[in-house]
Amino acid sequence: MQINENIKEKIVLALDVEDIEDARRLVDRLHPYVGTFKVGLQLYTKYGNAIIDYISGKNANFFLDIKLHDIPNTVEKASENVVLRGANFFNVHATGGLKMMEAAVRGAKKACEKLQKNPPVILAVTMLTSISQDVMNDEFDINTDVSQFAIRLAVLAKNAGMTGVVASSLEAKKIKEACGEDFKVLCPGIRPAWSTKDDQKRIATPKFAIEQGADYLVIGRAVTQAESPIEAMQKIYDEIGELECL
Ligand code: C5P
Repeated sequence: MQINENIKEKIVLALDVEDIEDARRLVDRLHPYVGTFKVGLQLYTKYGNAIIDYISGKNANFFLDIKLHDIPNTVEKASENVVLRGANFFNVHATGGLKMMEAAVRGAKKACEKLQKNPPVILAVTMLTSISQDVMNDEFDINTDVSQFAIRLAVLAKNAGMTGVVASSLEAKKIKEACGEDFKVLCPGIRPAWSTKDDQKRIATPKFAIEQGADYLVIGRAVTQAESPIEAMQKIYDEIGELECL
């Protein structure tokens, strides 16, 4: 299969599996097609750096989906460690506030200076999709509209020097309008038309997400649970490849 590097860069594969052997198999088979492998808390809390070292050993990028949220000093040190560990992407909760996000950027910068490498992609999680309007109103006693609040947090993340945010593709356009074209948007909830929806509610096809402005697509079960992950990936490449902007 011919690899279009512009497409590859956008593909972030979510390694949400129980077992490190399954994760390694996915990395082995898919690393030629995947820009970045996402290691989430499920895998990281079980296998720690073993899976990260495996991905790095294939010269592939990894995204440590660690969602830091603590006082600025702790986040600064943790961010430095994450980047020293080799992460090309990591994330923090925007609800940690401006100072905390600035600390994350500072920590990452220190690590890059030590390693003499380019800065990583640092993303802010604005609002978890599990936080509904009802939770905002009834549990937190915040009466702002949940999507307005997410945009406000995206602007805060931009002001803190973050690279971008994690957001639904349905919100990508609004975020770009508020934060500028260069501010990156990484979109989960991606489902090609031929795949199952699973537990995702607000889904978009890869093509639609890119049309809305997504810079990175988090793709998980549509590929990892497919009978042939490589064929599934090929179909995604074909679909995205139809776009004129690529
Ligand atoms: O398998 P699927 O494509 O649904 O995987 C989506 C990935 O994106 C998972 O790792 C999930 O934790 C992550 N994610 C999400 N929705 C968000 C933020 C992250 O599905 N709002």
